[in-house]
Amino acid sequence: MTSPIIELQGITKVLKGQKEPRTILDGVDLRVHAGESLAIVGRSGSGKSTLLSVLGLFDRADQGSYALAGRDISRLPEGKAAKLRSSHYGFVFQRFFLLKHLTAAQNVAMALVNGQGWLPRRERRARVMQALEQVEIAHLAKNRPSRMSGGEQQRVAIARALVREPQILLADEPTGALDTETGTLVIDALLAATTRGCSLILVTHDLAHAGRMGRIAHLDKGVLTERVNA
Ligand SMILES: Nc1ncnc2c1ncn2[C@@H]1O[C@H](COP(=O)(O)OP(=O)(O)O)[C@@H](O)[C@H]1O
Ligand SMILES: [Mg+2]
Repeated sequence: MTSPIIELQGITKVLKGQKEPRTILDGVDLRVHAGESLAIVGRSGSGKSTLLSVLGLFDRADQGSYALAGRDISRLPEGKAAKLRSSHYGFVFQRFFLLKHLTAAQNVAMALVNGQGWLPRRERRARVMQALEQVEIAHLAKNRPSRMSGGEQQRVAIARALVREPQILLADEPTGALDTETGTLVIDALLAATTRGCSLILVTHDLAHAGRMGRIAHLDKGVLTERVNA
């Protein structure tokens, strides 16, 4: 078996600077293989977003180790972490963070400009259209966010996350601002990425969405426990 794309061992995060230090993540162990999907559920304040920040290299653990495809990245300097972040990870949040004066295609293209310098125009355009097709909104390429529904805007955000072909997609309550039906289409788009080998880690409150992932892990006061999906 190949090494997991993600392997966390004993990840612990302590918040200082208050009266007493508070443990936000408490010895989290987690392995995720390429193409797997994992839901992380748990009540508000249980540490879900903190765990995603550690996974996405926005935040560092105080203890424990993090290996990416078998390589220890626990103590990577910030510059290298930022490079890995843009080459290996895609992020989707509850808020879409689209630039409202740009079209859907231009919003997606921004991810290519920031990450890799300018690609030749034709290649850039092909990759943007491919990403929009993957989330089934290629027909909206020239629309601005104000003319799209919430679900369509979130799918633009997913296309923007996918256009650099990340190995890991991290989604923090991506359906939190959407109704159930629209949310289902967003989950469809995220799951489609796993059929291309991308690993998906989804934080959600919605148990129906969680149930569509290959695995479900529960976070309670910083302790992650997993039960096998029936
Ligand atoms: N920057 C911060 N400063 C102070 N407390 C924080 C900060 N980030 C997170 N917390 C606290 O850490 C805990 C976990 O937060 P979070 O990871 O956002 O939980 P969740 O996403 O599960 O709601 C919460 O109690 C929250 O108040
Ligand atoms: Mg959160």
